[in-house]
Amino acid sequence: MTNLHTPKAVIVIFGATGDLAKRKLFPSIYKLYKSGKIGDDFAVVGLARRPWTNDVFRTNVRESLQNALSMEEDAEEFTSHFYYHPFDVTQAESYTELNGLITDLESTYKTDGNRIFYLAMAPEYFGSIAHRLEEYGLKNSDGWTRLVIEKPFGHDLKSAKELNKEIRVAFNEDQIYRIDHYLGKEMVQNIEVIRFANGIFEHLWNNRSISNVQITSSEELGVEERARYYDHSGAARDMVQNHMLQMVALLAMEPPIKLTTDEIRSEKVKALRALRQLEPEEVDEYFVRGQYGKGTMKGKELVGYREEADELHDSNTETFVAGKVMIDNYRWAGVPFYIRTGKRMAEKCTKIVVEFKDIPMNLYYKEEAEKHPNLLVINIQPNEGITLYLNAKKSGMGSMAEPIQLSYTNNGVSGINTPEAYEKLLFDCMIGDTTNFTHWDEVAHSWAFIDTVLNRWQEVKADFPNYTSGSMGPDAANQLLEKDGFHWWDVAKNE
Ligand code: BG6
Repeated sequence: MTNLHTPKAVIVIFGATGDLAKRKLFPSIYKLYKSGKIGDDFAVVGLARRPWTNDVFRTNVRESLQNALSMEEDAEEFTSHFYYHPFDVTQAESYTELNGLITDLESTYKTDGNRIFYLAMAPEYFGSIAHRLEEYGLKNSDGWTRLVIEKPFGHDLKSAKELNKEIRVAFNEDQIYRIDHYLGKEMVQNIEVIRFANGIFEHLWNNRSISNVQITSSEELGVEERARYYDHSGAARDMVQNHMLQMVALLAMEPPIKLTTDEIRSEKVKALRALRQLEPEEVDEYFVRGQYGKGTMKGKELVGYREEADELHDSNTETFVAGKVMIDNYRWAGVPFYIRTGKRMAEKCTKIVVEFKDIPMNLYYKEEAEKHPNLLVINIQPNEGITLYLNAKKSGMGSMAEPIQLSYTNNGVSGINTPEAYEKLLFDCMIGDTTNFTHWDEVAHSWAFIDTVLNRWQEVKADFPNYTSGSMGPDAANQLLEKDGFHWWDVAKNE
């Protein structure tokens, strides 16, 4: 159905035979189509080296819908919008032929010359592709052109700057959509609303009332088939530089004066600018790294990271990071933000725990140690919701207290239609909303912060493996909090 108000575009996917396209992009486009968020005026061009035909590509798309969504209703009609073009990113003809194909599709699908170039492939080509798109005239259409870039955006601050420079020759900042898929998650987007739409939280959201903040993103999966990428990256680059620091920024930022992209991003940038830069000799005091060894999970024997692939046998790459991040500004001085992420941990879970300061006297618990601080828990996944931990009187005689929980669970809009991160982000890109994509300044500040940690780790060989698969990471991650008088509020124990 064509609708005047739905966005129109030709979406060009570089890396269309890859895992991301199959697991996330095709199902997301399909859901946008099924929900009427996009109409019939769109086409998708898949590019990769393989000599596929449109038919092979379409079968692949159909399979991806089956696998990801267990459905392919209207698949025939949907996949008729998909075209495949074998592509060599280094060859001029590839670009000129592509331009011809897009121009034809623009007239068939009436997409007003709007073009999205989605780079879902090896990062070493990001810069040169952006450059060539400009050079061979693919940006000279009548409509808008946008560039979507998957992570990693660089390997460190220096390479990120170089990449940014290369891309900026061809695209303006407002045409660049740097994906951080955590920014598309429902409850990550909710952080801002929970904070700024509730007086009871916003007034307490500072170092007078909050003792510490804990952000955990644990995974059960190991390195899977991604040894080559992951071993070069490690958990700090893979998760901390982007997803974890983005959550820190959302939790720490000042309220924006308006809900515009520029205002929100500038508050996030300010929060990231206030991250305390560590001295190299402080890194071991603030950060802990880990690598998983063998273990058991749900009754299954698992091998250690070094046994996952031949090339990993003496790897020094971290699969776990815990850190204490300080934000040196008026609101947050003295409040540690603890972050923790890793592979092969006890469970798949992302959550934020905001721990409030204790009341000054213990009147309602027998022992000081039984006291329960108030906690605000934001559950990001797998459950979506918020839980507030309070104390209330134990029913019956006496006036002793017990901890209680007020919970809200977001069960999604309606089953299958609950928008997934990629679906929301793709749609935002189609309507030109860059709010939930990372601005270059955010990327740069995050790299500057994490580079110090990585440089230090590169100098000193770690004593790996140091945590068992299926655990919550190395002991040192617990000690990181214990030395400050805190402990991780672990998911399994509390909910
Ligand atoms: C990706 C990382 O960015 O995020 C992966 O590259 C990680 O290593 C994934 O598994 C986690 O995302 P999610 O949405 O499953 O928490």
